[in-house]
Amino acid sequence: MILWVVLSACIVMVTMFTKWLIGKQTVGNYGDRYVLITGCNSGFGNLLAKRLDSLGFNVFAACHSDNGVDELNAATSKRLVTLKLEIADESSIRSAVEFVKSRIPDGTGLWALINNAGTAASLGPVDWLERQDYASALDVNLLGLVDITRSFLPLLREGQGRVVNMSSILTKVGMGPSPYVVSKYAVEGFSDCLRLELFRQGVSVIVLQPGFYRTNFLPVETMVVKYKQSFRHAHQDVQTFYGEEYLEKALKHCHDIDSMTSSDLSQVTRAYVHAVTARFPRARYIVGRDANIMFRVLWILPLWMKDRLLALHYIKPEGTQKNGQSANGGIPS
Ligand SMILES: NC(=O)c1ccc[n+]([C@@H]2O[C@H](COP(=O)([O-])OP(=O)(O)OC[C@H]3O[C@@H](n4cnc5c(N)ncnc54)[C@H](OP(=O)(O)O)[C@@H]3O)[C@@H](O)[C@H]2O)c1
Repeated sequence: MILWVVLSACIVMVTMFTKWLIGKQTVGNYGDRYVLITGCNSGFGNLLAKRLDSLGFNVFAACHSDNGVDELNAATSKRLVTLKLEIADESSIRSAVEFVKSRIPDGTGLWALINNAGTAASLGPVDWLERQDYASALDVNLLGLVDITRSFLPLLREGQGRVVNMSSILTKVGMGPSPYVVSKYAVEGFSDCLRLELFRQGVSVIVLQPGFYRTNFLPVETMVVKYKQSFRHAHQDVQTFYGEEYLEKALKHCHDIDSMTSSDLSQVTRAYVHAVTARFPRARYIVGRDANIMFRVLWILPLWMKDRLLALHYIKPEGTQKNGQSANGGIPS
């Protein structure tokens, strides 16, 4: 019995050590590799551009607006090149392809395309929202990402490179603002299909699933404004059904969510850097303490239990209570 326990422990340790050793191997020759990162004027994209530049990569940092571009240029080497990119605009993507192509030596190709740009889009329950709220989220987070990936595939094949797509841990539990979550689920689906399609073409596809981090993405003030906007835009009957008290509680909830965010953005950039530099990158990186502990527990629970636990934190609309409707949302009592 003791022999079996010792043997099993040895096997686990050897497996973990081998995994660690494999994960440590890098591709090297960073100075000969070209990478394109989207969404670089702030947040993770901005930090990653600086980090990959400091490692010696040739970085194309695509920025949506001029915010942060001067700071990025000042903080990086002359190798780093910034370009303007509106990911929801096909002609902007075409210009980006021409721009990058003209600056990469013939026969080199692109080593990594990092699809980092994203929008939080509109917030609020589904009946506060309109078709356009979903369309805007999908336009940037999904269609823009798909278009840019398709457009850079020839260069990625030439460089035998990798596509790194930014998703979210929310796709593991299916909660959050539905336009955003739907768009990130779609990113996961696209990435899975693409990974298999490119498997025998020498291009890898990697997905990052971070938890909550404090960036410019969704500061609490913006969250509050977006919630109020969606509520006021909703049909009068819907507003009456939810009631002002619901809105107040929802706004308080925004502050609760904000207090859960981590300020250690380096956890995400480290995962990005591993995805770009590792000889054997992982297919998925789950990043953050919240993602690896709280969310991990939630997604291994049976669905009925997970829903029941999470629903405890969902606010009941005023109309639900007045009409004596079931607040269980189809969850068995
Ligand atoms: N922060 C989090 O907790 C968290 C968690 C999981 C996943 N993520 C994902 O991480 C990625 C980066 O977000 P972040 O947290 O670093 O926030 P961020 O600082 O707001 O970065 C998002 C970047 O995307 C750019 N962008 C937005 N719409 C664009 C468009 N139409 N075309 C081109 N670029 C566009 C933004 O530029 P402008 O600001 O100029 O619009 C910004 O530079 C996003 O995909 C987000 O979904 C974030």
